Amino acid sequence: MKVTIILLLLGFLNTTSLSEAEPAWGPTGHRTTGKIAEMHLTKRAKKKINKLLKGESLAFVSTFADQIKSDRKYDKYYTWHYVNMPFDVSYEDSDKNPKGDIITGIQKCVEVLKSDTSSTEDKVFFLKMLVHFLGDLHQPMHIGRAEDKGGNTIQVQWFGRGTNLHRVWDENMIQEWKMSYIELANNAKDLTKEQIKAIQKGSVIDWMNDTRKLTRKTYESVKVGENLRYRYSYDHFDTVRIQLQKGGIRLAKLLNDIFK
Ligand code: ADE
Ligand code: ZN
Ligand code: ZN
Repeated sequence: MKVTIILLLLGFLNTTSLSEAEPAWGPTGHRTTGKIAEMHLTKRAKKKINKLLKGESLAFVSTFADQIKSDRKYDKYYTWHYVNMPFDVSYEDSDKNPKGDIITGIQKCVEVLKSDTSSTEDKVFFLKMLVHFLGDLHQPMHIGRAEDKGGNTIQVQWFGRGTNLHRVWDENMIQEWKMSYIELANNAKDLTKEQIKAIQKGSVIDWMNDTRKLTRKTYESVKVGENLRYRYSYDHFDTVRIQLQKGGIRLAKLLNDIFK
């Protein structure tokens, strides 16, 4: 009996709470998207970006938007990492978060980067944010329901340890794969020029809707409290890889348009 109580307590302590949530692909996911974007940049864009970032790579700056979260000064950007909508409502018809969401956030970044009157400091800041948000835009649980905070309150286990559905997609699956972001980028799918063009077609809202096609399936992929293991990765890691790649390819499209 005592042992059972201790085990239950340990399980409870292990359970990830929202207070320690970091709402984004983990560092490896974001860096993979940044690295893949670099593989699709024009020479001109590469040069201009290099100058702004003083040689830091897109992979390196991709985690900046998460790093600043511990500083209250940047609280107003918190809601820019995601958007919540019910399944049966389009973005256009949905109630908008007055604090902004991932769509308005990306639009703001693009606007600052395209403007002749923005300061270099602002351009650097919003470029780093943009790299991050294009990653988040491709995580199905960043386009989730408000009532469960994009899966953050849906508790499950990952190889016996407490986590939640959001975090399984942000980082548990990627970490379990034990590849660096360079290895993940170098092992991305071989795509034809036509396939790349097709992925880059459309608007940021179209791209969000593309990710959203996966959201319902992702919600349906687990039962609350379920212990997810190899089988879950086997079924879903390919989707994660494709999403990281689409994020990179689309980020490059935006950057090539901005830095013409
Ligand atoms: N991270 C924190 N809150 C979130 C939400 N409501 N949806 C998606 N990701 C989140
Ligand atoms: Zn994020
Ligand atoms: Zn997240």
